[in-house]
Amino acid sequence: MSNIAVLTSGGDSPGMNTAVTAIARNATRLNMNLLGIDRGFNGLLGKNPARDFVRLSIDNILDIADQAGTHLRTARCLEFLNEDIQENAVRLLRQMDVVGVIVIGGDGSFKGARALAAKGMPCIGIPGTIDNDLAYTSMTLGFDTAVNVCVDAVRSIRATSRSHDRPHVVEVMGRHCGDIALMTATATGSEIVICPEAGEWKVQDVAKRLQSHIDRGNYRSTIVIAEGAWAKMRPFDVCKFLRPYGKEVYEGEPMTAYRFASVLKRLCRMPDDSFPEVRHTVIGYTQRGARPSARDAAFATEAGIMAVELLKKGISNRVIGRQKGVVFHEDIEKALHAHRPFNRKLYNTLNSL
Ligand code: F6P
Repeated sequence: MSNIAVLTSGGDSPGMNTAVTAIARNATRLNMNLLGIDRGFNGLLGKNPARDFVRLSIDNILDIADQAGTHLRTARCLEFLNEDIQENAVRLLRQMDVVGVIVIGGDGSFKGARALAAKGMPCIGIPGTIDNDLAYTSMTLGFDTAVNVCVDAVRSIRATSRSHDRPHVVEVMGRHCGDIALMTATATGSEIVICPEAGEWKVQDVAKRLQSHIDRGNYRSTIVIAEGAWAKMRPFDVCKFLRPYGKEVYEGEPMTAYRFASVLKRLCRMPDDSFPEVRHTVIGYTQRGARPSARDAAFATEAGIMAVELLKKGISNRVIGRQKGVVFHEDIEKALHAHRPFNRKLYNTLNSL
């Protein structure tokens, strides 16, 4: 029986455990042993192989299938960019009789998989990131779950916003990608969405748009902002702006959801000339730590099955994706260079009032 190995890498994402379970199930079916590697590529540094390689069987991990987080643990491993370390990792894997590795993670993790494959260790990638920033596939494990967490949160926020006539700034994750923000705003009917892909934006323009909603009698607009969009904001001197209002902001401090809400409050007026009570929420890590949605779990299962089958057939250097409801595999290099156009039409329509 040959050994294959699996690791999860980068930020954890809902569905990683489901994929590992599906891999274990299919490995058993195809007469392969499965080793789990602890803490992503860190587990390949050879520091403590007895601790870092764990025998996984469907019987001992069946119960993790729908659990949040990643049972194998994860990490970001900058050391793995070093070629000597990559070569040592391949040597270590061979010593452990491993004939192929399945890497579950985002683009950085896929680069690690590509490096291992280039050094002769067959590798297959499964896209695991809530950010959805891999353009070759229409979905990555965890994205759907993260969006559902955000949609639930924004619905609750909109209920209390409506009760109090308060606009609300909601920041969501996504690193450089605005997909979580765009999908959340679309699904909740939020009035304003700000994504990094749309390019530079101005605080004053958002204030004008918020004011126009207030002028039309909507006092509870939701402004959904992707975390990556702060880097695309036209420089705004938040210190100079907020200090006269007695707000403690020091030179050079960046804009945040909290300060953005404070600024919008002062740039807008309610019909009685008072400031609107703009509030803020940063949804944060609850997006990553949720149990996988049915969509993510189903994709994770199909991807896990396919990954084992590819290794069994001796196929390497592929990453698994899903397009138009069909799970497929793609060359890792092509996948890393794919470019998905931003849905500007949807973005502009959501932001059109
Ligand atoms: O890549 C997933 C992600 O959750 C991003 O959305 C976010 O920017 C980042 O990870 C946060 O990383 P960390 O866990 O290192 O704080």
